[in-house]
Amino acid sequence: MVNLKGVRGAPDILPRDSFGWRRLEEAARAVLHRYGYAEIRTPIFERTELFVRGIGEGTDIVEKEMYTFTDQGQESLTLRPEGTAPVVRAYLEHQMAAQSALVKLYYLGPMFRRERPQSGRYRQFHQIGVEAIGSERPAVDVEVVALLSALLVEELRIPDLQLRLNSIGDSVCQPQFRDRLRHYLADRAHQLCQDCQARRERNPLRVLDCKQEGCQQLVAEAPKPIDSLCEACADHFAQVRRLLDLLKIAYTIDNRLVRGLDYYTRTTFEIINPRLGAQNALAGGGRYDGLIEAMGGPPTPGIGFAVGLERVMASLPADADEEVALCGVYIATIGEEAHATGMLLLQELRRRGVRGLIDLEGRSLKGQMRQADKDRVRYCLILGQDELTRGEAALRDMAKAEQQPMALDQVVARLLELEGAGGR
Ligand code: HAM
Repeated sequence: MVNLKGVRGAPDILPRDSFGWRRLEEAARAVLHRYGYAEIRTPIFERTELFVRGIGEGTDIVEKEMYTFTDQGQESLTLRPEGTAPVVRAYLEHQMAAQSALVKLYYLGPMFRRERPQSGRYRQFHQIGVEAIGSERPAVDVEVVALLSALLVEELRIPDLQLRLNSIGDSVCQPQFRDRLRHYLADRAHQLCQDCQARRERNPLRVLDCKQEGCQQLVAEAPKPIDSLCEACADHFAQVRRLLDLLKIAYTIDNRLVRGLDYYTRTTFEIINPRLGAQNALAGGGRYDGLIEAMGGPPTPGIGFAVGLERVMASLPADADEEVALCGVYIATIGEEAHATGMLLLQELRRRGVRGLIDLEGRSLKGQMRQADKDRVRYCLILGQDELTRGEAALRDMAKAEQQPMALDQVVARLLELEGAGGR
């Protein structure tokens, strides 16, 4: 049997949910606009090397989660597992540095990772991400974190969120910290889980955020990134913290927050919703001051984050789910002549911006009224043979359950007036 089912971990967003998604996207766009971010739309696939170079060869994403294929031209392409590497590519390719010293971009769309699907973890999921490229000033870190908090806490009103913060150093102090950590782990290698045994040499930072009980115990005593910062990084982090305090943005320091992608330097952060299950990170991000140079550009600092929209949808308080407001008009007709008149009226109303519906399936009047209810229209215009001969129609206000006759030639003007502001 051919299997024509959707792919596991790649859910459909059905009409009953798409309204909520659109509202979320619109709320996010409004906040991003207020913070001066402009939208960038990069392709859904890129050359595979972009992600291997950008995210890092030893990461879980590159090692086992990418959807990679060879196209007919024998080129290896990959569905984007994240947005930072593509944005940096576009930044370099279109010489955006020439437009402004600090370039602030945002993106919204699907990402693809071949992870084991579970609640809150999908193979196709959606992110809203931002990248601020061109400045290493702590004020940029703080504006980025403030934006994330404005979106999730103030605009979407998700309760009980925790902001976790760390600094993992730069190209001066991070390699030294890695060495210290390697040494510490080498002496205790037998206590590590299998994955961490493998990571210990190549990518020791990842041992810090391993979820296995034994590794967590070891890590509790391990050297901490913030104790190994060079003077410049320590000073940078102190300024970030001072400015966060000034803006009254609460956070906790999480010494184990190293993130799963290799490009991070200095500030890293995540927003956690403790009410969600195992997959409770709503958003994550940080600085990547070495990435642009590693991708062939001039040394250029950058910072950003991405929010996982499926997890945000799962976190929204129930009262944000209120009923869709009644809007527009349904033209209910009896007989062919009335239906033709109705279609003509509807054409005019729709041209003028009104949401309008008419029966296309030959339903009875009762069936049409039921449909009007389902379609959540504010008004129903009833056109029968008798009304038509008198040059009239009946206009029913569905919210008030009131009905009144109206001259046919006034219908469009009257409905435009009624629906004018709210009905579009
Ligand atoms: P990330 O931590 O890999 O960072 O992903 C950010 C967010 O995307 C996560 O916190 C989570 O909410 C969501 N997410 C990730 N994987 C999945 C999945 N399989 N299913 C559902 N949601 C998921 C990045 O992607 C970086 N590019 C963020 C960044 C931007 N850093 C700097 N600039």
